[in-house]
Amino acid sequence: MVASRWSCLVLFGIMLPSPPSPSPSRWFRSLRRLKSNGQASRTPASVCAEMLKKSREAFESKKTAEESFRLGQLDGIVRMVVENEDDFVEALNEDLHKPRFESLLSELILVKNEAFFAINNLKKWMQPEHVERNLATSLDQCFLVNEPMGVVLIVGDWSAPVQQCLIPLVGAIAAGNAVLLKPSENSSHTAELLQKLFPLYLDKEYYQVVYDVMLADLLELRFDHIFYTGTFTKAQQVMQAAAHHLTPVTLVVGGKNPCYVDQVCDLPVAAHRIAWARFHNAGQNNVAPDYILCHAEIRDKLVQALTSCVLEFYGAEPAQSPSFGRMVNMEHFLRVRELMLSSGKVVIGGEVDESNKFIAPTVLLDVQESDAIMKHEILGPILPILTVYNADEAVDFVRRKDKPLCLYVYSSSPKVISKFLTCTSSGSFCANDSAIQSSLVTLPVAGVGASGMGLYHGRYSFDTFSHRKSCVLRTTRVECVTYLRFPPYEDQRLSLMMWATSLSRKGAGWCNLL
Ligand SMILES: *[C@@H]1O[C@H](CO)[C@@H](O)[C@H](O)[C@H]1NC(C)=O
Ligand SMILES: *[C@@H]1O[C@H](CO)[C@@H](O)[C@H](O)[C@H]1NC(C)=O
Repeated sequence: MVASRWSCLVLFGIMLPSPPSPSPSRWFRSLRRLKSNGQASRTPASVCAEMLKKSREAFESKKTAEESFRLGQLDGIVRMVVENEDDFVEALNEDLHKPRFESLLSELILVKNEAFFAINNLKKWMQPEHVERNLATSLDQCFLVNEPMGVVLIVGDWSAPVQQCLIPLVGAIAAGNAVLLKPSENSSHTAELLQKLFPLYLDKEYYQVVYDVMLADLLELRFDHIFYTGTFTKAQQVMQAAAHHLTPVTLVVGGKNPCYVDQVCDLPVAAHRIAWARFHNAGQNNVAPDYILCHAEIRDKLVQALTSCVLEFYGAEPAQSPSFGRMVNMEHFLRVRELMLSSGKVVIGGEVDESNKFIAPTVLLDVQESDAIMKHEILGPILPILTVYNADEAVDFVRRKDKPLCLYVYSSSPKVISKFLTCTSSGSFCANDSAIQSSLVTLPVAGVGASGMGLYHGRYSFDTFSHRKSCVLRTTRVECVTYLRFPPYEDQRLSLMMWATSLSRKGAGWCNLL
């Protein structure tokens, strides 16, 4: 099954014509010209405005209303990812020292899955959805149509710079929008690659990459939707700017994802899964377990199990391991190192090498709730362990904090798992593993409370980037009945109208929904 899917992909890649040679879009050429001769007439803000204008004009032409146009563009995304796999792997390696294995499994394949899922379901998603009617509208057509929002701004993050840009893009294209994509400047190699590839695989009028401009300049403009992935503080700025135009936003903000390890669980399995998810991409992952709450009784055994996992995964010298990433830049390196030095006691790892932004897979014990490392999302390969005396105490701990993007529980007890499931709130939940829930196209990724708002992935992306328009196509054939609502008002007409339009409670007599 898997093998045949791969061979299909390969065939797919071979049969398609190769793209023309790269040429940067006219807008960026003009931007570069601006930079080189210091002309004051075309500011970055005006370049953004011109790009938006171009997208808006393209959108107005209504080409995206066609299913075939959307399918062609989604196909373009698949080809872009398949035909340039090595370039993506190399760019991710430059930006984050991301191993090929991780680039394929946690970036490229996710984008391909997302695009194929949209291609396979687009026809169904685009259908109007008929709704139940009451007696008064029983002869009318009542339905919802999904209408594109217009021009969407997608702002990607640097931690997974391909999928955090392209997964939302798939949804925006499927729903028929034009898009300005702003990749993070912190993952510059990936951003430049996207900028180079976009015009070769996607319609350049509709889909543009804005990279050399400030987010603040973009936020001045009126978009029809803003999709942002990143930090809490920046998300606040995005929402503030969006409020000015009443632009709807989708915000995917990380947060501190708690991970509870119960005294009864399969400890070696738990340790492997936790270590994998925490140290993947050197911990720079918004769905990673951020800290462990464990039962005091098993703390030492857990540390032992994690020690052997780190050795098994990365060898005695993780700095030499080809399977371990690096901090994205010097500021993040310094920030994470400072967190590590200022909180708890190092029991695993702790080594750093400033010359290549290396921080070893590290576990901290004796961390206090008041320590710096417990204040913000870590986004680095550090795993603090806090002890609690039972699951109730862990639940209370989680409930005291901002609602996280993800919550993880490792336990053999269905009771403990269900206690966390029902008594805590988080964007997503996974028992006995970490991060896996975000790899399914059928489960939305969504924050709640401080971890964000709005849903994406699969059908949820399509809905996020669509306006669901309520439509009634009304008949004029029964005017003898519908005139009852008009003045002069009479009590007898009122009772008839009430009867024809009101709902009754299910099971309490008859229901007038048809
Ligand atoms: C890039 O990283 C710096 C810290 O090094 C941070 O201040 C900035 O907000 C980051 N930019 C983005 C777009 O995430
Ligand atoms: C979680 O893992 C434990 C330990 O392997 C197992 O006993 C339990 O049944 C698992 N829970 C679920 C829901 O599968």
